[in-house]
Amino acid sequence: MKTLIVYATTDGQTHKIARFFADYLIENDHSVELLCAADATLLDLRRYDRVVLAGSLHAGGLSE
Ligand SMILES: Cc1cc2nc3c(=O)[nH]c(=O)nc-3n(C[C@H](O)[C@H](O)[C@H](O)COP(=O)(O)O)c2cc1C
Repeated sequence: MKTLIVYATTDGQTHKIARFFADYLIENDHSVELLCAADATLLDLRRYDRVVLAGSLHAGGLSE
Protein backbone atom coordinates (compact mmCIF):
# COMPACT_ATOMS: atom_id res chain seq x y z
CA MET A 1 0.00 0.00 0.00
CA LYS A 2 1.38 3.41 -0.98
CA THR A 3 0.67 6.38 1.29
CA LEU A 4 1.19 10.05 0.56
CA ILE A 5 1.66 12.26 3.62
CA VAL A 6 1.46 16.01 3.03
CA TYR A 7 2.19 18.33 5.93
CA ALA A 8 2.20 22.06 6.57
CA THR A 9 4.22 23.38 9.48
CA THR A 10 5.17 26.71 10.99
CA ASP A 11 7.67 25.75 13.70
CA GLY A 12 8.46 22.18 12.62
CA GLN A 13 6.23 20.24 15.03
CA THR A 14 3.87 18.86 12.38
CA HIS A 15 6.86 17.83 10.29
CA LYS A 16 8.18 15.80 13.24
CA ILE A 17 4.79 14.08 13.66
CA ALA A 18 4.48 13.38 9.93
CA ARG A 19 8.06 11.98 9.87
CA PHE A 20 7.26 9.75 12.86
CA PHE A 21 4.15 8.39 11.12
CA ALA A 22 6.05 7.87 7.87
CA ASP A 23 8.80 5.94 9.71
CA TYR A 24 6.15 3.81 11.43
CA LEU A 25 4.53 2.91 8.10
CA ILE A 26 7.90 2.16 6.49
CA GLU A 27 8.85 -0.12 9.41
CA ASN A 28 5.60 -1.97 8.72
CA ASP A 29 6.42 -2.53 5.06
CA HIS A 30 4.40 0.29 3.55
CA SER A 31 5.61 2.57 0.82
CA VAL A 32 5.50 6.24 1.84
CA GLU A 33 6.05 9.60 0.19
CA LEU A 34 6.41 12.52 2.62
CA LEU A 35 6.00 16.01 1.20
CA CYS A 36 5.81 19.55 2.52
CA ALA A 37 2.57 21.14 1.28
CA ALA A 38 4.58 23.81 -0.56
CA ASP A 39 6.17 21.06 -2.65
CA ALA A 40 2.98 19.07 -3.18
CA THR A 41 1.92 20.52 -6.49
CA LEU A 42 0.83 18.77 -9.67
CA LEU A 43 0.54 15.42 -7.90
CA ASP A 44 -1.18 12.50 -9.58
CA LEU A 45 -3.20 11.20 -6.62
CA ARG A 46 -4.04 8.03 -8.55
CA ARG A 47 -0.52 6.86 -7.65
CA TYR A 48 -1.50 6.53 -3.97
CA ASP A 49 -3.78 4.21 -2.07
CA ARG A 50 -4.31 6.77 0.68
CA VAL A 51 -3.46 10.38 1.43
CA VAL A 52 -2.83 11.86 4.88
CA LEU A 53 -2.97 15.65 5.36
CA ALA A 54 -1.39 17.16 8.45
CA GLY A 55 -1.37 20.76 9.63
CA SER A 56 -1.34 22.85 12.78
CA LEU A 57 -3.49 25.63 14.18
CA HIS A 58 -2.14 29.13 14.59
CA ALA A 59 -4.41 31.89 15.88
CA GLY A 60 -7.47 29.78 15.10
CA GLY A 61 -6.48 29.04 11.50
CA LEU A 62 -4.95 26.02 9.82
CA SER A 63 -1.35 26.43 8.66
CA GLU A 64 -0.87 26.62 4.90
C1 LIG B 1 1.62 31.97 17.86
C2 LIG B 1 0.93 30.63 18.05
C3 LIG B 1 -0.45 30.53 17.89
C4 LIG B 1 -1.12 29.30 18.09
N1 LIG B 1 -2.47 29.23 17.94
C5 LIG B 1 -3.11 28.06 18.17
C6 LIG B 1 -4.53 27.96 18.02
O1 LIG B 1 -5.21 28.90 17.68
N2 LIG B 1 -5.11 26.75 18.29
C7 LIG B 1 -4.39 25.66 18.69
O2 LIG B 1 -4.98 24.61 18.96
N3 LIG B 1 -3.04 25.72 18.80
C8 LIG B 1 -2.39 26.89 18.56
N4 LIG B 1 -1.02 26.95 18.69
C9 LIG B 1 -0.27 25.75 19.02
C10 LIG B 1 0.35 25.13 17.74
O3 LIG B 1 -0.67 24.63 16.90
C11 LIG B 1 1.28 24.00 18.18
O4 LIG B 1 2.39 24.58 18.83
C12 LIG B 1 1.71 23.15 17.02
O5 LIG B 1 2.43 22.04 17.53
C13 LIG B 1 2.60 23.90 16.05
O6 LIG B 1 2.90 23.04 14.97
P1 LIG B 1 3.84 23.49 13.74
O7 LIG B 1 5.18 23.79 14.32
O8 LIG B 1 3.87 22.30 12.85
O9 LIG B 1 3.21 24.69 13.11
C14 LIG B 1 -0.36 28.15 18.48
C15 LIG B 1 1.03 28.27 18.61
C16 LIG B 1 1.68 29.47 18.40
C17 LIG B 1 3.18 29.56 18.57
